[in-house]
Amino acid sequence: MLEAVEVSKKYWDRSSGRQYDVLQSCSLQIAAGEAVGMMGPSGCGKSTLARVLLRLLPTDSGRIIFQTQDVTQLSQKQLKPFRQQVQFISQRPESFFDPLLKLGASLREPLQIFDLPDSSEIIEAALATVKLSPALLDRYPHQVSGGEVQRLSIARALLLKPKLLILDEPTSMLDISVQAQILQLLKNIRRQEQMAFLFISHDKAVINYMCDRQLYMQEGRIT
Ligand SMILES: Nc1ncnc2c1ncn2[C@@H]1O[C@H](COP(=O)(O)OP(=O)(O)OP(=O)(O)O)[C@@H](O)[C@H]1O
Ligand SMILES: [Mg+2]
Repeated sequence: MLEAVEVSKKYWDRSSGRQYDVLQSCSLQIAAGEAVGMMGPSGCGKSTLARVLLRLLPTDSGRIIFQTQDVTQLSQKQLKPFRQQVQFISQRPESFFDPLLKLGASLREPLQIFDLPDSSEIIEAALATVKLSPALLDRYPHQVSGGEVQRLSIARALLLKPKLLILDEPTSMLDISVQAQILQLLKNIRRQEQMAFLFISHDKAVINYMCDRQLYMQEGRIT
């Protein structure tokens, strides 16, 4: 379903004025419906790899293939189907909500972009899946809790019926009880929708609970 072939990426280090390798020839494959875990120490490049796979950051070399199509060089317009089918759940979900937009409008926006049916029933059904009340739709992002924002970001991703969810430490900023609820929720949703996951986490227990197999990353390499 999603494949990375020898993907490399450098960042500029402003202090030394030099480039350094963040990703070095990273290759991976995620099959349809499979849950793959990705672990590794802080700073090893996991979030960078997630952003590269999502085509949010360009690669320096290597290829990204989604369902047999090479998406590495596609334009934003050509990427539209990819943008619908591969969704991202971030470790900072609040940054994906416009602070000036009510949450209801933020949930609707992607449906309009992708010309999908948009009705109160559809939005409320998505909220029910993540166990949130429709009362939240009238609030702004700063008026809900961290756990609620993360559940809203999951609801928004699910509205697009993705085939793959890339989750980057989706519960790292939540307290332990909310964390358990969200993991359980994600696990159920995955089973129902037969979605593939790339699940990034520091926590081996979380990866074991959520994933079919795991990859380990160290200093920009998948080992
Ligand atoms: N935009 C950027 N410009 C320059 N360097 C960056 C940039 N973003 C991240 N880095 C650096 O690249 C390295 C990899 O960062 P990345 O966020 O991918 O790590 P990570 O494995 O996700 O870490 P964590 O587990 O703490 O989230 C780090 O050394 C980080 O400081
Ligand atoms: Mg990270």
